[in-house]
Amino acid sequence: MTTKLERILIISLIAIIILVPLICILIIFMLAEAESEICMNTECMRTSVQILDSLDYSVDPCDDFYMFVCGNYLRTNFIPEDKTEIDSFAKIEDLLSHKLRILLEEPVHKHDIKPFKFIKTHYKICLDPEQDNTDTLKYLLRQLGGWPVLEGENWNARKFDWRNLAHKLRKAGLHSEIFLVINAEIMLSNSTQRILEVDEPVILYKEYLKKGLDDKITISMYKLLVDVAVLLGANRSKAEREMNDVIKFLVELAQISVPPEEKRASSSLINVMTINDVELIFPIVRWSSYINNQLLGVTKVNENSTINVLYPKHLKRLNALIIHNDERTIANFMFAIVIFNEIQYLNQPLRDRLNEFLKVADGNTQNTPKWKDCVDDVANRLPLVAGALYVRNFFKKEAKKNMQDLVKEILQQFKRELSNVQWMEENSKKRAESKANAINTFIGYPDELLNDKELSTYYADLGDPPDNYLLLDLKLTNFSVKAHYKFLTQPVNKTDWRKQHSPIDVNAFYESSSNSMHFPAGILQDNFFGYGRPNFVNYGGIGFLIGHEITHGFDDEGRLFDENGNLVDWWSDSTRDAFLENAQCIVEQYDNITVPEVDIKINGGNSQGENIADNGGIKQAYLAYKNWLSVNGRDMSLPGLSNYTNLQMFWVSTANSWCSKMRPEKLKYMLLSDEHAPMYYRINVPFANSEYFAEDFKCPLGSKMNPITKCKVW
Ligand SMILES: *[C@@H]1O[C@H](CO)[C@@H](O)[C@H](O)[C@H]1NC(C)=O
Ligand SMILES: *[C@@H]1O[C@H](CO)[C@@H](O)[C@H](O)[C@H]1NC(C)=O
Ligand SMILES: *[C@@H]1O[C@H](CO)[C@@H](O)[C@H](O)[C@H]1NC(C)=O
Ligand SMILES: *[C@@H]1O[C@H](CO)[C@@H](O)[C@H](O)[C@H]1NC(C)=O
Ligand SMILES: *[C@@H]1O[C@H](CO)[C@@H](O)[C@H](O)[C@H]1NC(C)=O
Ligand SMILES: *[C@@H]1O[C@H](CO)[C@@H](O)[C@H](O)[C@H]1NC(C)=O
Ligand SMILES: *[C@@H]1O[C@H](CO)[C@@H](O)[C@H](O)[C@H]1NC(C)=O
Ligand SMILES: [Zn+2]
Repeated sequence: MTTKLERILIISLIAIIILVPLICILIIFMLAEAESEICMNTECMRTSVQILDSLDYSVDPCDDFYMFVCGNYLRTNFIPEDKTEIDSFAKIEDLLSHKLRILLEEPVHKHDIKPFKFIKTHYKICLDPEQDNTDTLKYLLRQLGGWPVLEGENWNARKFDWRNLAHKLRKAGLHSEIFLVINAEIMLSNSTQRILEVDEPVILYKEYLKKGLDDKITISMYKLLVDVAVLLGANRSKAEREMNDVIKFLVELAQISVPPEEKRASSSLINVMTINDVELIFPIVRWSSYINNQLLGVTKVNENSTINVLYPKHLKRLNALIIHNDERTIANFMFAIVIFNEIQYLNQPLRDRLNEFLKVADGNTQNTPKWKDCVDDVANRLPLVAGALYVRNFFKKEAKKNMQDLVKEILQQFKRELSNVQWMEENSKKRAESKANAINTFIGYPDELLNDKELSTYYADLGDPPDNYLLLDLKLTNFSVKAHYKFLTQPVNKTDWRKQHSPIDVNAFYESSSNSMHFPAGILQDNFFGYGRPNFVNYGGIGFLIGHEITHGFDDEGRLFDENGNLVDWWSDSTRDAFLENAQCIVEQYDNITVPEVDIKINGGNSQGENIADNGGIKQAYLAYKNWLSVNGRDMSLPGLSNYTNLQMFWVSTANSWCSKMRPEKLKYMLLSDEHAPMYYRINVPFANSEYFAEDFKCPLGSKMNPITKCKVW
């Protein structure tokens, strides 16, 4: 007889004897299930080879993840002589240029619509080495009063008035925005309206010019000015003297320009006043007639019209600068800028001279091939037409649907994280959520680009391309100036196809005035987006960019705008203070970095928007991928890389798309002028700020990639 207790024991024993192996078998079976399938298609092979060729196994991922992923890439890749950098973006741009070249070199077909005929002809004219349009230019300059350095004593200062010249330049289709830029922009305070804005002029290599007359690039620019004057027929010793005044003036103009940090403070950029008031405060020009002249009759302003003066202090400084210089210097300067803008349309000797200067400034040792310059010129001047030609021939439509799903997932991830944010007060959280919900996303290209009629109608005023390359450029400027101001006469349409980014941009954008994200066809390929490969590649590629753009809506600038794109403060005091404190951590973290190759510091203040976006973006993409994994169980793995987990591969493949090599000249100017940190820091800093990264690579606390102090905004 067995006791009750014994019976229970025996039954338990039998149960254990049977169950334990069963559980073991089950666990083994599940483990086998979890083992990823190795993807062997060509897409995966290609991705795998690219990653394996770049990796440097001798670097500890916890010490320097970028060098772990990119070490071999840096060691084995050269920057071609005609280029200033290599990376995934540049690689795609190259592929794109080749595709466009093929399309542009096809003969003009009878059935081609006019805009396509236009760009094919434009391309052909650009390629023509025989074009010499210096006589046309000289004729135009004479008509406008003449470039003093060419005219010598015949030049008449009494007949010169810079406002008058700006008007004549505009009418001729030449560059006229030398001192004042008048743009038709969406109002910061009310995104349903457009307003004319007075902006400061764009100055090439401004950050070098600011340093003064001793700067190496400033000196090169001076020599360029002298040589251009001589090539156009000036006496060298005279050119040296007069261009010396010009470069001094240019340096001063650069030095009074608006510092980048003042451009970030959006509310200070609202200085809306009637033209009457502007004339009283800034008598630098007669504003109503000056603006009307720039508008080319597209629309008119009067004394009661309101405009926005973006930088009132700059206008005061500009006024003083112009008053303190004589007419001859100002005229020499203005024409020099005009000519600089047209050099590429003149002749080969002048283009060669310009290229010599650019090599000094950018560090490349050879010129870009002529066909490439011509593809770029066509793409820059008529981006939507070149884009239409491209997407009609090369863009796969399925991409749109897949991107929409990915954007939705990452937005959802952003909102999930929002609910976990500790420093945000409930009400501000709600506003942030409705802003995220209201983000409008543009993927690939607008459908109108496939519509012959839309394109032909919009470009009808462009007419036919002239044979003379210079006149062709003037015609294009004339067209685009008028097209720009025409928007002032129409209600704001935030989805207007004519205002979209070019589909051949290899980039992504967030726009605060329309609370919208843009992912042009150009970026939806290669490393960033594709099919038939593990999901971590897309999440780390385009997914990271989606997260980055979403976060721009909530960075130091984007956060100032509401869900409708209006500059409206929707933050409670305590939440705003907490944001500023978190952002300051990021500012100081990047401010603390000196880039050793060029011994220049990152500007933490000016780059904070991009850095906040990088740090938030990588987190959202990662968590969205993790979520995808938890729903789908497992991802594929890549051949030769199957000893890394899917989550580890997310980080590896993300960093791989940012492997980059840049000439020091380019790196230097980037640090002085670009809002983005160099690629190395765009990977290592956000990864080191992520506890998820540290967890996935088991980086000990206190290691370089898992520092004790981390910064986090989103
Ligand atoms: C600008 O376009 C108008 C037609 O809209 C034309 O009358 C004028 O001559 C053009 N100017 C130039 C420089 O092409
Ligand atoms: C923006 O302007 C429109 C049209 O004038 C007006 O109806 C609307 O109330 C304004 N919105 C804001 C936020 O001021
Ligand atoms: C340039 O002008 C100076 C006088 O200003 C004159 O002496 C010189 O001969 C001129 N040079 C040439 C090449 O014409
Ligand atoms: C500007 O407004 C004033 C006052 O309302 C008016 O007298 C004047 O006629 C207006 N000027 C124009 C050009 O409309
Ligand atoms: C706004 O632009 C979109 C895209 O170009 C177009 O489909 C729509 O009709 C436009 N809306 C208005 C009111 O014109
Ligand atoms: C800046 O760098 C120094 C030295 O490496 C370090 O001690 C300090 O904590 C850093 N500050 C921030 C904000 O990262
Ligand atoms: C994966 O394999 C490579 C090559 O055999 C090796 O160098 C690397 O350390 C391995 N990584 C892990 C996480 O096992
Ligand atoms: Zn950005």
